[in-house]
Amino acid sequence: MSGVNEIRSEFLNFFAKNDHEIVPSSPLVPRNDPTLMFTNAGMVQFKNVFTGLEKRPYQRATTSQKCVRAGGKHNDLDNVGYTARHHTFFEMLGNFSFGNYFKDRAIELAWNLITKEFALPKDRLLVTVYSEDDEAFGLWKKIAGLPESKIIRIPTGDNFWQMGDTGPCGPCSEIFFDHGDKIPGGPPGSPDEDGDRFIEIWNLVFMQFEQIAPGNRNPLPHPSIDTGMGLERIAAVLQGKHDNYEIDLFVALIRAAAELTGADPHGPQKASLRVIADHLRASAFLIADGVLPSNEGRGYVLRRIMRRAMRHGQLLGAKEPLMYRLVWALVREMGQAYPELVRAESLIEETLRLEETRFRKTLERGLSILDEKSVSLKKGDMFDGETAFTLYDTYGFPLDLTQDALRNRGIGVDIASFTDAMERQKAKARESWKGSGDSSAEAVWFPLREKLGPTEFLGYETESAEGVVAALVKDGKEADSLKTGDTGSVVLNQTPFYGESGGQVGDIGVLTGDGVRFRVTDTQKKGGDLFVHLGTVEEGTLKPGTALALEVDHGRRTAIRANHSATHLLHEALRQVLGDHIAQRGSLVAPDRLRFDFAHNKPISAEELSRIEDIANDVVLENGEVVTRSMAVDDARASGARALFGEKYGDEVRVVSMGKGSGNMLGWSVELCGGTHVKRTGDIGLISVTGESAVASGVRRIEALTGRNARQAANASIQTAKAAAAELRTTLDDMPARIATLLEERKKLERDLSDARKKLAMGGGASAAGGDGGADIRTVADVKFLGRAVQGVDVKDLKSLADAGKKQIGSGVVALVATSEDGKASVVVGVTPDLTSRFSAVDLVRKASEALGGKGGGGKPDMAQAGGPDGAKANDALKAIEKAMGA
Ligand code: ALA
Repeated sequence: MSGVNEIRSEFLNFFAKNDHEIVPSSPLVPRNDPTLMFTNAGMVQFKNVFTGLEKRPYQRATTSQKCVRAGGKHNDLDNVGYTARHHTFFEMLGNFSFGNYFKDRAIELAWNLITKEFALPKDRLLVTVYSEDDEAFGLWKKIAGLPESKIIRIPTGDNFWQMGDTGPCGPCSEIFFDHGDKIPGGPPGSPDEDGDRFIEIWNLVFMQFEQIAPGNRNPLPHPSIDTGMGLERIAAVLQGKHDNYEIDLFVALIRAAAELTGADPHGPQKASLRVIADHLRASAFLIADGVLPSNEGRGYVLRRIMRRAMRHGQLLGAKEPLMYRLVWALVREMGQAYPELVRAESLIEETLRLEETRFRKTLERGLSILDEKSVSLKKGDMFDGETAFTLYDTYGFPLDLTQDALRNRGIGVDIASFTDAMERQKAKARESWKGSGDSSAEAVWFPLREKLGPTEFLGYETESAEGVVAALVKDGKEADSLKTGDTGSVVLNQTPFYGESGGQVGDIGVLTGDGVRFRVTDTQKKGGDLFVHLGTVEEGTLKPGTALALEVDHGRRTAIRANHSATHLLHEALRQVLGDHIAQRGSLVAPDRLRFDFAHNKPISAEELSRIEDIANDVVLENGEVVTRSMAVDDARASGARALFGEKYGDEVRVVSMGKGSGNMLGWSVELCGGTHVKRTGDIGLISVTGESAVASGVRRIEALTGRNARQAANASIQTAKAAAAELRTTLDDMPARIATLLEERKKLERDLSDARKKLAMGGGASAAGGDGGADIRTVADVKFLGRAVQGVDVKDLKSLADAGKKQIGSGVVALVATSEDGKASVVVGVTPDLTSRFSAVDLVRKASEALGGKGGGGKPDMAQAGGPDGAKANDALKAIEKAMGA
């Protein structure tokens, strides 16, 4: 017997042998179809290849595609657990021809695979064709040799497959397996076809048209093939089971749940075990593809699936959160085929644990209300919609969970009064907004947020996607359109563009559609979670409803991711080197640099800085995976995760960890963070700290570069250093010693020069120092007077020169006026001690200062100093002193 994993490989290998490219499954959140909630068929990722919009390097492909059918048009959620073949998550095996082979080859390949490779007995197989498709009818007869009685023409739309209201489509042909007459049911097209005996195992779609709008269909450029075979169904057939839940994969998952709860897989609690197994797969794969539980959109579908499983866990008597303890079993069964499960294992576990812990708080109380209010109801009765709303609003019971809980007793829920209660609550919320009276330009966002709900952010997983314009804003008002040249804002139903927050700048990029292009120059978040794309229409006209391809500037985002992860590493390195007090005070994560402000009250030494840089770079070199978890804020804080300053956190937070060790179980650096990060620390490349400074009292800032920028900056520094070494005619290594020698030499030269100037100033003749009014020793009012105007003498040397002058004359007055290069003058007057009773140096120097255009001056009677702006009056200053002495 082949297991699910072998059957999957056999299918893919068969088509690979027949020249098909094995293409990985695309994510469950469709990147290329904004109207589709989840990928629900293998052809979704090839939609644009069929229509000729997109080219691939191959014309034949085969996939095993993850699909979810819950929420939206195809909603199998309510049936799961109670039927043999309903799943919220399943795998669709398929082969595709893009204008290569058509019906004949498709039928031949399918027939060969199931009858030769899978060895299904021909007499248990029958097929259907679209009633008008004589060609397919003839081909089945010819290629498979099936009798006409086993080629059933179906006149209804059942055998015309359409992706949705628009998109590629065409007639199809389905292959059925007869499970035998033990099981009731008739062949397709017969009155009792709804029975379970004849099961469709494979749908071959002969893609020929593209539905543009209702009633408007264009032929595809080339007829193509799209097929879909449910892996779980074919596995059941090949394993001799009638029930999908009895195939090896489900048996293993159900066993894991049975072991934890003690429930019997074949007993009355069978349905609950099946619900758990199915919903575990859907939840885990959705989380791995970037969906997290929330109260809107995809996140709400996930929450409904999770909570439905959790209620069944509770029905099985589980006292503790159950779902997260089953993740390992799923990873064991499916991790090899889908490595994303392994990568996201901890995120899946944490998300399930958190959701179940939280839901358990209200589950029991809610269930007892449900019991109380339904106790008097009988089969066929309706449960009160108001109470169902209270259960929804207060106890977190999605409507389908209430329905599910009452289903066994045949009780329905009054949906109309439920919806009514919901509407009333929304209206109340609107009222309270009106009352806020906010008249600023920002006021436009709140009603928009209320009308549109939050924008779904896809940017953790992808940087390109498709979206639909939900609203346009121009000059602070909602607009019907934005035309070429208009600058305004675009709100989409979903986006990969990151809105500025947590220090990380908003994304830029381009939105393109049919004849229209909008250049996004910034992305901001308004009203909490409404993503607003600011920019200009470069071509065409944007209107609400326009479908757009959304492309983030990838290079820029890559650089931003490296800088954001590097910020976390530096944060932790700072803490290790400087201490625990370094709380974050702010940060900037831009494409070209990063900046991190933190509490610390003294400069960081060069040695500390280089240690910080080394530690952070060691983690870069470890090249470990960067792991994201979703946790309750309190749990996250309790785990020691660091919170970013200025961020408002909801109940649930993303926790980003990187590196190993450092005492925290989750990682070396663990932070609450909504930003985008590298996959592995090695993607950062290199961290180079470029600066350290003070920004406010007690707050320091470090700045750094990463990756290519860091390398280029380092290179530029080396080039400068090399140029300096060349100028100094030495090598880089010898440069410090060379500079030290040069500085030493320079100091000595300065000393020599100063000495020479002093000598010149005091030793030369009348004009030796360059002044024309310098005089030799003269007699003024009976005493010796040595007056000189000098140049090029440092002010600080004037006093010692005046002292020398006093010694030279023995008894008398010395006056030196020094003129500096900028034309100002300094003057020093010295009086020998025997004369201080007659002349005060202070008085004399003031006279000189006045002559120089200055004021004041000071000192002692034997030595005083002053200055003045007018150096050209040096001689007048000397004369003023002589006059004051009584000349
Ligand atoms: N796209 C086809 C289906 O989903 C094969 O059935």
